[in-house]
Amino acid sequence: MPARTVYLETFGCQMNELDSELVAGRLASLGYRLTSASDEADIVLYNTCSVREHAEQKVWSRLGDLKAKKMERPGLVVGVLGCMAERDGQALMKRMPVVDVMCGPGELDKLPELLDNAVRTRLSLLADEQTAMSAGARSAGVAALQGNASRRSSTLSVANDSLEMLDLSRSVSPIDSQAKASAYVRITRGCNKFCTYCVVPFTRGAEVHRPPAHIVDECKRLVDAGVREITLLGQTVNHYRFEHDAALVIDGIVQPQKGRSYKGGANGHRRDPFAGERVTTFADLLYQIHEQVPDLPRLRFVTSYPRDFGDDVLEVIRDCPRICRYIHAPAQSGSDRQLALMNRGYTVAEYDEFIQRCREHLDQPEIGRPLMLSGDMIVGFSGESDEDFALSVDLLRRSRYKNCFIFKYSPRPGTTAFDRLPDDVPEEVKRRRNNELLAVQAEVSDAVSREQVGRTFDVMIEGISRRERKRRGVDVKPGGGMIELTVGGRSSAAAVLAEAAADASGLNGQGESVQLSGRTDGDQIVFIELAPHESSRAEGLIGHIARVSIDRAERLSLFGRLEA
Ligand code: SAH
Ligand code: SF4
Ligand code: F3S
Repeated sequence: MPARTVYLETFGCQMNELDSELVAGRLASLGYRLTSASDEADIVLYNTCSVREHAEQKVWSRLGDLKAKKMERPGLVVGVLGCMAERDGQALMKRMPVVDVMCGPGELDKLPELLDNAVRTRLSLLADEQTAMSAGARSAGVAALQGNASRRSSTLSVANDSLEMLDLSRSVSPIDSQAKASAYVRITRGCNKFCTYCVVPFTRGAEVHRPPAHIVDECKRLVDAGVREITLLGQTVNHYRFEHDAALVIDGIVQPQKGRSYKGGANGHRRDPFAGERVTTFADLLYQIHEQVPDLPRLRFVTSYPRDFGDDVLEVIRDCPRICRYIHAPAQSGSDRQLALMNRGYTVAEYDEFIQRCREHLDQPEIGRPLMLSGDMIVGFSGESDEDFALSVDLLRRSRYKNCFIFKYSPRPGTTAFDRLPDDVPEEVKRRRNNELLAVQAEVSDAVSREQVGRTFDVMIEGISRRERKRRGVDVKPGGGMIELTVGGRSSAAAVLAEAAADASGLNGQGESVQLSGRTDGDQIVFIELAPHESSRAEGLIGHIARVSIDRAERLSLFGRLEA
């Protein structure tokens, strides 16, 4: 096969980011060349998100732009991967013939085959006199979609889960010490919650848990390659549960397992009676990783479901120093009526109790480890009245998240809410409520940040701050306040360091100050000002944890100095 050039763009959540990384690794190992310039690609892939209409619109507009390009270059192969592919199915290809390949998130292991197939189909379209003229406007029509197949079988083990092979075959290449050494590891796929507004259970399929040994091994391999921070991924991580008695082994590989949660009494605090030996619970898994991967400085996880989150998990976090005190536990609303319509399965009082329990176990500012919480809220869900909304404002003030993602309700075809609950809050009202919640959260974030002034934290230094790079005229990635020292970004960070080092040894030996950025274990962003005499240390600090005392705060960032 001639080397083909692939452009892969990712939308949506961390799951998609991880999927894209795995897909890119797989394609690279097969001889494809990945490029960050869409213009030079033979294959353009979008890994898509369906969670809100807005997320899909971005992709529609990208596809629209590709139409003209494909007329010019009829050999171009276009693929839609991920949740949008799964949700829209073949209809998407009919509406957008520019798309040649569709591949749902549950079928990504088949992507290389699909691409091969699509490339061949395009070549034959071009070779055939009948179709050559219109090849640019035709789709190769290649698709692999799950069609919720994962929900059909009721057996506990997922027979021959080939998707597991994609995670297992993750290519881990040694990480440059200057890279932001952080990685995702999947523990659970899919979701069984069926919140009425949410499309994820339909696009990602049934909840499936990966065998703990696979997860621990993957963490070890990543750490051996230089990774310093791992974030475990699942839609509801605390539902992680693996029953060893029921494990199925195929071709020597333990298969992932469908979710069968232990109903642990009211609000699920009671310990799973089989925890430890016969069953690996989420608490067990965290503990195992912490103990078996001792060289991993930071372990995180997202997203926590604010129910069935036992004290056992909180105790493990409290007792394991390298597990971060950061919990992302979306409330979605502060009104019981709305929570019931959303089918969230908890009341506001239960949510408050959960947050309270988290604080009791984990909030220790006196040792530089305050608990940081974050959340998600939806405004303008079906029937949300002014009173319901006022309750959400109250919840936001009480919960004191360090940050909160706020979304306007967006009805998604296929969900229960789409079929049964009217989207009856006018757009104008949604917008107003959205802005109001943003303003409330801004106040809360400000206050939470200011509380950190005077405290000292362990900060994982991620790199030269964006501000610093801008100041020095080095290219800065748009978006995100932090620099991502990925393959492309590394050289520019190195350039800044080289320049800083040159400055440091320059006239009068005075040097210049350098600003680094990093994060606390509570996931707060910290900017560290290195004094001119410290700037030569910058390079050695990146990728490591340093003690930093905080002397100033802004809404979403802290500023400090290295502790003497
Ligand atoms: N599994 C996670 C959330 C995954 S989706 C959890 O349950 O916490 C990420 C966020 O998108 C959700 O928390 C919710 O706030 C938002 N969201 C999901 N569907 C939405 C919709 N139809 N309209 C607006 N926001 C939505
Ligand atoms: Fe969606 Fe609810 Fe599952 Fe989260 S828990 S992914 S909001 S269905
Ligand atoms: Fe979007 Fe799918 Fe993630 S819908 S939020 S990419 S699971």
